[in-house]
Amino acid sequence: MHIQATTQSPLGTDADTIAHGLFADGQTSAEGAASELIRSGEARGKLGSLAVTHDQGRRFVLVGLGDRAGFGAEQARVAAAAVDGRARELGAEALCWRVPAAPGEAAVTGIVEGTLLHAYRFDRYKADAEARGVERLILSAEQDVSEAARQAAVVTAAQNRARDLGNTPANDLTPTALADYAAQLGERHEGVTVSTLDGAQIRELGMGAFAAVAQGSAQDARLIRIEYNGPGAASGAPLGLIGKAITFDSGGLSLKTSRDMDEMKFDMCGGAAVIEAIAALAELRVPVRVLGVVGATENLPSGTAVKPGDIVRALDGTTIEIDNTDAEGRLVLADCICYARGEGCDRLVDIATLTGAVVVALGSTYAGLMSNDDDWAERVHAAGARVGDAVWRLPLHPDYARLMDGRYAQLTNRGRKREAMAITAAEFLHHFSGDVPWAHVDIAGTAWDVSRPYFTGHGATGYGVRLLVETARTVRP
Ligand code: BES
Ligand code: MN
Ligand code: ZN
Repeated sequence: MHIQATTQSPLGTDADTIAHGLFADGQTSAEGAASELIRSGEARGKLGSLAVTHDQGRRFVLVGLGDRAGFGAEQARVAAAAVDGRARELGAEALCWRVPAAPGEAAVTGIVEGTLLHAYRFDRYKADAEARGVERLILSAEQDVSEAARQAAVVTAAQNRARDLGNTPANDLTPTALADYAAQLGERHEGVTVSTLDGAQIRELGMGAFAAVAQGSAQDARLIRIEYNGPGAASGAPLGLIGKAITFDSGGLSLKTSRDMDEMKFDMCGGAAVIEAIAALAELRVPVRVLGVVGATENLPSGTAVKPGDIVRALDGTTIEIDNTDAEGRLVLADCICYARGEGCDRLVDIATLTGAVVVALGSTYAGLMSNDDDWAERVHAAGARVGDAVWRLPLHPDYARLMDGRYAQLTNRGRKREAMAITAAEFLHHFSGDVPWAHVDIAGTAWDVSRPYFTGHGATGYGVRLLVETARTVRP
């Protein structure tokens, strides 16, 4: 979809469909025939409610925006999704939104995001893909909002690409396919350098935890390293963004049950968020230094698979007893965290579909945030709140860490009790991040199948792209 902004009135554009908002208190930008819908009572201010009329050869959509005091980017996303849905049904091609008055850029950002997220389809494998939707979105505002619209369009396109990666089945999105995809970023963007380590190099470098997960699969593993040096950001330590990319998690020999196992193609959504967040940062030429480290492998049972009880050595020398091969994400992340520290990162964010427990705790509304640094945690939290990728902090504590002490090795990858399992997973990672300010974002509940008006309810959400972009943008004081 093409996005543009104009200071002309909607009627001054060539749009076939014009959208106006209506607040619950009656305030609206609509006039003429469109305001007739209000007088007749058809249009209402309830968030997302719709009414349509025609005048002078154009279609007018009135959409409820809810209470004016509570209006922000999320409400704009919801309203924009409603408008996009109706516009698609009606066969609209060029849609012009009159941007409602709201503080800052929230309305512009929200309309662009809500429209693009709602218009997203994953129909690559369907025989008869749906008819085309809206092709052009025009934002009409009194002031020039083109820069805010452009930035939102870039980030949301990246989010939708992350959804594509998540939705792609594991037979097509193998670790090598993901690495090849990431490598293209280096060719497309100035300041981006991508390199990869294959399975043998991962082993030889001493990443025994990562290698153990990979050894059961016929697909070779990849550690994907994405360096981005923004303009004027040549010196200073990079921000490390670490992503879990298990392209399929069967559980390994600690095999999962078959119910919902298909969903484990989404177990690479953290890695996808890292790759696409860096793509967006590069496209926006944000002046930061970032190092993305994505651990990509399958987790499968086989004659060569790692066995419960096996002891492996991570990159920093830590010995780990693998007591449950389904707790594989933390093994891969442990080595990726060691690697990022070795590359000189002075702040870390890891993002991973790590535990079923975080879904029980927080559902699909908040991702879990765990951190060894209050200031860093607050920055990540605030970034998430600003862009609508919400995170909620859960505590760390030495008691939890103790549950990850190994019996025969330094650590075990499975907590000794079935308690606080999102947190014990984080404590395992905490061992490897040490004192480096680190934030762990567990997205097992938010990465797919989220019921929001701008998502279809199933499939990958691209959660984390906006969070990481905003975190990276604000990383220095
Ligand atoms: N990828 C899963 C976590 C997951 C489960 C994400 C369900 C989304 C939905 C992860 O690798 C896993 O299997 N974790 C185990 C850890 C346990 C064996 C200690 C879990 O959470 O059950
Ligand atoms: Mn698992
Ligand atoms: Zn997993």
